[in-house]
Amino acid sequence: MQTLADSHGRHFEYLRLSLTDVCNFRCSYCLPDGYNKAKGTPTNLAVDEIQRLVSAFAKLGLWKVRLTGGEPTLRQEFLEIARAVSGIDGIRQVAVTTNGYRLVERAQSYADAGIRAINVSMDSLKPERFRSITGHDRLSEILRGIEACKQAGIASVKLNSVLLKGLNDDEFDDFIAFVSEQDLTLRFIEVMRTNDNPVFFTAHHLPGTFVTARLESLGWQKQMRSEGAGPAIEYASPQGSGRIGIIAPYSKDFCASCNRLRVSATGKLHLCLFGDAGIDLRPLLQRDGQAKELIERLQRLVMTKAPAHLLHQGNSGATPHLASIGG
Ligand code: GTP
Ligand code: 5AD
Ligand code: SF4
Repeated sequence: MQTLADSHGRHFEYLRLSLTDVCNFRCSYCLPDGYNKAKGTPTNLAVDEIQRLVSAFAKLGLWKVRLTGGEPTLRQEFLEIARAVSGIDGIRQVAVTTNGYRLVERAQSYADAGIRAINVSMDSLKPERFRSITGHDRLSEILRGIEACKQAGIASVKLNSVLLKGLNDDEFDDFIAFVSEQDLTLRFIEVMRTNDNPVFFTAHHLPGTFVTARLESLGWQKQMRSEGAGPAIEYASPQGSGRIGIIAPYSKDFCASCNRLRVSATGKLHLCLFGDAGIDLRPLLQRDGQAKELIERLQRLVMTKAPAHLLHQGNSGATPHLASIGG
């Protein structure tokens, strides 16, 4: 079996595939002024291009695909894409990261299309706050969407909260109580600096150590990392119900356990969330007969992946905001 590895000993079994860079939310750390698609931007990958792309990755041992965006569920062909990707030989898990838009009415159709894991963004448990951070008064709808995912039998449902100094850090204990009561997994995400948010970042960044110190003082226990786990670290509640993950890209060695690659909505391979402008794979996605060439190209490119992102140098490389390459 062929595999995908880089020159730093890391193996890649997880693809984050962006389906669109468009989003209908206005998160203050991401797209506060909404989205303007630049004139002349190439079209998004079509279903057959996605099939060729994911089939090549699957031949290289990759088994997990997360559909991201922007908001991936805004793509008209979203269910068709989910079904196509789930049907590819070797793909064992299709996941989606969503802002929760229309999740209440669509959760069952996602499960039916083969989606087995859903991560939903939720930055506040207070309706008015939720509105002020995301630009949308949809908290109660999103909470119902999470319930709908459970009802639909989606095995893994996780919440993502970007913890922001002065904006939602006072809700830390409420978040913890919520995950314990609901027996859910929530990940606190350290806000990342992008080219669009430097002022916001400086005002509201909280280091991941804020979360770990508080959890440890409350008796939460750090979990052993399973083999193949990504950069998030996880804590379990002392009561046994609920889990908290921490995604702290500014922590030392965050990138050492990187297990993922990214492809943008228009077919650019990004070896890292920060740093590179992307390498266009689209010319190799036009015919089934190109599979061998595509596989060899992927293997060569992945070997050149940098050991770590540029954030520690206060630099976000070519990344305007995370919606642009799928977070
Ligand atoms: P699981 O598959 O459930 O482990 O989820 P995930 O953490 O891989 O995916 P999700 O889309 O829920 O990501 C949550 C947050 O982590 C987002 O803000 C991502 O931008 C961030 N994130 C994911 N992967 C990376 C990464 O490689 N580097 C950095 N810096 N952040 C990442
Ligand atoms: N820093 C940290 N997280 C971010 N997200 C988007 N932009 C940023 C940023 N600059 C998060 C969203 C969502 C996930 C996919 O990415 O809140 O949970
Ligand atoms: Fe949209 Fe996600 Fe960016 Fe919010 S963080 S604007 S939901 S892409």
